[in-house]
Amino acid sequence: MNFSEPSDLPEIDSPDGAHEFESEIDINATQHSHATPATPAQLHAAESVDALIKADKLIAGYFPGVNILNDADLYAHEGELVGIIGPNGAGKSTLLKALFGLVRVNSGSVTLRDEDITNLRADQLVRRGVGFVPQNNNVFPTLTIEENMQMGAFQDPKSFPERFDAVVDLFPTLGTRRKQRAGSLSGGERQMVAMGRALMMAPSVLLLDEPSAGLSPALQDEVFIRVKEINATGVTVIIVEQNAARCLQIVDRGYVMDQGQNAYTGTGSALANDPKVIELYLGTLAKA
Ligand SMILES: Nc1ncnc2c1ncn2[C@@H]1O[C@H](COP(=O)(O)OP(=O)(O)OP(=O)(O)O)[C@@H](O)[C@H]1O
Ligand SMILES: [Mg+2]
Repeated sequence: MNFSEPSDLPEIDSPDGAHEFESEIDINATQHSHATPATPAQLHAAESVDALIKADKLIAGYFPGVNILNDADLYAHEGELVGIIGPNGAGKSTLLKALFGLVRVNSGSVTLRDEDITNLRADQLVRRGVGFVPQNNNVFPTLTIEENMQMGAFQDPKSFPERFDAVVDLFPTLGTRRKQRAGSLSGGERQMVAMGRALMMAPSVLLLDEPSAGLSPALQDEVFIRVKEINATGVTVIIVEQNAARCLQIVDRGYVMDQGQNAYTGTGSALANDPKVIELYLGTLAKA
């Protein structure tokens, strides 16, 4: 947590719009004097060209003068499966909420296919093809599965039958138990409902916050398989995960977030085998 960071944090190492210089950046060049030891900012500038969704140097928080995100960068190319891991309180959920218009971005920008979507409302983002499954309270417990799916499609009710069929293809249980109240389902089933609801608007990007949290190892595995399947249908997925080692096994690319910034970034396997990442973030999990 960076409670001491002022909201008007000065630029440390690059001018506004640094991404405009991406073609000139030598990512192997000597690092600028940045607060974090790794290369994420330069990698981001060089690699985020033509990204489907992109967050540049986000500064955001819940209270004035208390920033949780401190220059957070992130991108996902079309069809990518991108993971975000990091310690509790690092700002992972805050980053997803900032992408989805639920936390005010004070500085920096979020773009979707090069359209500026910074601080748009969640319903406007859903219309543009961004879906979000929050970490908690992500189903309507008193509504049936089918009604939860209708809520997911409320901006385009005519699409319901077709979209519900597509969601049931991915999650057959949601079809067979469509009349069951979501509140009576197991934790794993509820996660399927939450993901299914977010898929009802056929998003091009799906933001998932810890979908495996609180589940048994077997159900966690099922969630990871489902996430891979969702991604295989062409949906770009950005997933925050507490099960860091498992997450890095399934993602194309990952970020290790710490204190509101991306401390490390790379392919899932590069991060999983990086001694620093193992020492600092994977710990005993990696040794298992
Ligand atoms: N609604 C809120 N109001 C005020 N502060 C908040 C709120 N939500 C989160 N925070 C603070 O923001 C910081 C980052 O929280 P965040 O939930 O983004 O972390 P996280 O990386 O998702 O952690 P976890 O792994 O525990 O889910 C924490 O210090 C937290 O206390
Ligand atoms: Mg969180």
